[in-house]
Amino acid sequence: MELFRCQISGSHYSDPCTFDKEIKNIFNKTWQYVCHESQLLAPGSYVTATLGTEPILILRASDGSLRSFHNVCPHRGARMLSGSGTCKGIVCPYHSWSFTESGAVNHIPKKQWFEHLDIEGLHLKSASVEVWRGLVFASGVENAEPLNHWLEGYTEYLEGYEFAYEEMRQVAHFTFDENVNWKILVENYVEDYHFAYVHPKTLGAFDFSGVRTIPCGPHIQIPMPYRDTPPTEHSKYLWEPGGVSRQGYIFPLLTVQPARNHMSLFIFKPISATRTIIEIPVFQTAFQQKNFPVDAEVLKRDIFNDMEEDFVVCRDLQVNTKSSQFSINAVAGEHELGVKHFQKTWCSFMDENIK
Ligand code: FES
Ligand SMILES: [Fe+2]
Repeated sequence: MELFRCQISGSHYSDPCTFDKEIKNIFNKTWQYVCHESQLLAPGSYVTATLGTEPILILRASDGSLRSFHNVCPHRGARMLSGSGTCKGIVCPYHSWSFTESGAVNHIPKKQWFEHLDIEGLHLKSASVEVWRGLVFASGVENAEPLNHWLEGYTEYLEGYEFAYEEMRQVAHFTFDENVNWKILVENYVEDYHFAYVHPKTLGAFDFSGVRTIPCGPHIQIPMPYRDTPPTEHSKYLWEPGGVSRQGYIFPLLTVQPARNHMSLFIFKPISATRTIIEIPVFQTAFQQKNFPVDAEVLKRDIFNDMEEDFVVCRDLQVNTKSSQFSINAVAGEHELGVKHFQKTWCSFMDENIK
């Protein structure tokens, strides 16, 4: 009986060596969401991020283009920019070397103290940055494959959303910190079998029987049709008869939840083999801000309730991955197909032997 062509064994959910290999094979190499472009509108505005073990900076240059460099000073490796903000050129705080927005050396204090300087060789190392409709993605790899190749098929799916992603502004932000491996959180997200049992009320706006998990390259689309009748309970997603919320997962660390009242992202930030930070920014267009104003307290309660329902299961599942009896022995057709697809994608990146 073929259940999984590549099943992730329990140890892979807590093994530090596996985590190191995931950093090398997945997080350091793939496109990852960094921020909304509205954070990078003014010339000189910048954000920093760490993708796997690669600290990078993204800068809006004076010609309007976005530039991305490794945030590692070529002098002795200090971090040049921190957090986000606006800068005039790139200046390292350690010995004050400065660089142009093209990454070339601009000024080296006490230059005469250096015997041999290969100025060309001191150029900042480029990373990759691209924007899809206001969502800024970066990769630590210079000349990464075009973002539209990576997201092929998925962007068409997201295009069905009636609101413009690029016009959105962040209206709320939540952070969770869980002692759970990132893959458990992803596998929980990419199956809808648990919805009726774990989220009967919090996801009550949706018709669970109509939800599917559909592979799309390394990603997974999870279209969520709304119920025909209004939900009896309040839901963070505004009920919309006849509509579909085009939710889903973008490998490896992003999920997207576009709904009529707002769009939220889950950004998984793996800290260790057994700890993951989950950032949840919530966005709205001007129209949504006007017509579906966010009540911060209600939204916070809704998101915390919904997430806690998942975390309760995921925390115990994390412990159970160490059991001698841990294995996956059945999958619910189209409703857990996402788990199978994610594991297959993971194995292909990790060069794991297929079972
Ligand atoms: S490490 Fe950056 S100037 Fe010295
Ligand atoms: Fe869930």
